[in-house]
Amino acid sequence: MSQTITQPPLVVFDHPLIAHKMSTIRDERTTHRPFRATLSQIAGLMVFEVTRSFKTKPIEIQTPVTKTTAQRLEGTITIVPVLRAGLGMIDGILEVMPEARVGHLGLARDEDTLEPIAYLNKLPSDIDAGPVILVDPMLATGGSASAAITMLKEAGARDISMICLVAAPEGVERLQHDHPGLTIYAAALDDHLNDKGYIVPGLGDAGDRMYGTV
Ligand code: PRP
Ligand code: URA
Repeated sequence: MSQTITQPPLVVFDHPLIAHKMSTIRDERTTHRPFRATLSQIAGLMVFEVTRSFKTKPIEIQTPVTKTTAQRLEGTITIVPVLRAGLGMIDGILEVMPEARVGHLGLARDEDTLEPIAYLNKLPSDIDAGPVILVDPMLATGGSASAAITMLKEAGARDISMICLVAAPEGVERLQHDHPGLTIYAAALDDHLNDKGYIVPGLGDAGDRMYGTV
């Protein structure tokens, strides 16, 4: 389902269904309702591959026919959206993984300096009880994601990966520098950032498009 571009830690998805849905959210004519629905669907499709490396443990169960050994996911998974736009990815992921917990990090990018400003940190106290998946549709300069990962590490998270929809090379490079070893999953790797820090071709401001605040 996925294709690894260069070396891990960057995995860029190469799947016709995801590419099709990405064309919907990139299109400026897509209004907030279909934008939100499609973004959530893409996140749900991506999480299937992102969890491939998660460990399982054997359990004994009784089927209607016989006793057998089945597999359950080990540890407690925590999904952490970066507000606002990351929230739009949660429903699609929880559809596939309803038992996951959700922590919240609020970060807003200052439009002049492009530096992230943190305004919310609500994470489970035992966040190290299992893998943590950070979700944010946009990885632009990487400032927000880098700050979010630092907050996760300070809270005790050890096994962290990130899902974004659109990544810019600048953001990938920043994360590889600030947090070596982190795996980044992206639905698309775009070309560059413009002088306002927007991803090109990108999809515009994800939070504004999602909530109709453009
Ligand atoms: C967007 C996006 C990321 C950030 C990416 O959020 O959802 O969090 O920008 O940019 P960066 O990689 O350069 O830090 P924004 O700060 O616009 O907040 P919002 O989701 O509330 O609109
Ligand atoms: N944040 C967004 O929402 N879009 C971009 O292109 C860059 C940062």
